[in-house]
Amino acid sequence: MFSDRIGRISPSATLAMTAKAAELRSAGVDVINLSVGEPDFPTPYNIREAGKGAIDNGHTRYTPGGGTLELKQAVLEKLARDNNLNYDTEEILISCGAKHSLYNACQILFQAGDEVIIFSPYWVSFPDFVAVTGAKPVFVNTDANQQFSPDFEDLKKKITPNTRGIIINSPSNPTGGVWKDDAVLEVLDIAQHSNAWVFSDECYEQLTYDKSYVSTAMLSINNDKVLTFQSCSKTYAMTGWRIGYTAGDREVIKAMGKLQGQSTSCPNSIAQSAAIEALTGDQSEVRRMRTEFKKRRDYIVKRLNNINGINCDIPGGAFYVFPNFSNYMGRDRKISCSNDLSMYLLEKKSVVTVSGEAFGGDDHIRFSYAASEDDLQRAMNLLEETLNEI
Ligand SMILES: Cc1ncc(COP(=O)(O)O)c(C=O)c1O
Repeated sequence: MFSDRIGRISPSATLAMTAKAAELRSAGVDVINLSVGEPDFPTPYNIREAGKGAIDNGHTRYTPGGGTLELKQAVLEKLARDNNLNYDTEEILISCGAKHSLYNACQILFQAGDEVIIFSPYWVSFPDFVAVTGAKPVFVNTDANQQFSPDFEDLKKKITPNTRGIIINSPSNPTGGVWKDDAVLEVLDIAQHSNAWVFSDECYEQLTYDKSYVSTAMLSINNDKVLTFQSCSKTYAMTGWRIGYTAGDREVIKAMGKLQGQSTSCPNSIAQSAAIEALTGDQSEVRRMRTEFKKRRDYIVKRLNNINGINCDIPGGAFYVFPNFSNYMGRDRKISCSNDLSMYLLEKKSVVTVSGEAFGGDDHIRFSYAASEDDLQRAMNLLEETLNEI
């Protein structure tokens, strides 16, 4: 009944867990939700006011399909200020969240016969973005003890004449891993030799805790096949406003804009006005959220490492930890896989997590620490209880 295209993709596992948590909560269950992929802080006041001002001042109509010139200029200012990157407005496209940006880019660059490298564990949407185009996602292993940076032997083996793209996501969802610059450089080198596009998903670039972030395009002076994807979602607690952007080759940007113009017309006009304030206004809330997330990261990693048989490397960024539970699972045991463990935590303890399976890391569970300290403490107590029971 449906096209082949839709059969190639699956529903988002993370959104499914968010829905499950909402369902339990509305049934009166006191759930602790550590499945969320968004800051638990409100959008900062100045940004909310800019949104209200946009409505009152009549910014309520279609904008140019690829975003307003004012917002593109704000993006240029931000990229120069935070990432040392210099582009012009024709090299910028505003979309309805970075998810939309990444989707557009895959649509215009990949097709049947192409292969696209994805490092595993990966953000749930990458394989689907690639598969829907008809191209083949090719998974490359990473090293959990090195911030999930690539297994370069495996990467080299997986490169073929059909390799058309490589997707980097550092800081990573689901692992929180932040690669060393050397690792990014090596991937860039391999990409250049194989003439592949590099997608750098930098949604969490403002959330690194141990070293300052270096944008991939900054490291790739000679590589004009790097596309940078950033977002207002996580940095400014603006997930519902839906503003993300791409910076890169102007022909690619133009083609993405053409597709976007025939699908969504333009990103939301009110959100675009608010995003100008987000990107160019007071940045102190970003620093405050970062400090708070770091505190929580340190707490949750300490609690996890106090549990027998769990060894969790300190993730350098984002707001996720992705510990390995293989010591507690097995074919002949009560809990055989991470799905079982995640369901046990949900059904018996009302703790919502996302099992590693959807991210290509079946021994793992993803805990988001975008939650209050009290929730983190209660969840870790319940996790300890669970692991003693199973
Ligand atoms: C790695 C990664 N990339 C992109 C996105 C998309 O963010 P948005 O579409 O809200 O900008 C997310 C959101 O969860 C993410 O985790």
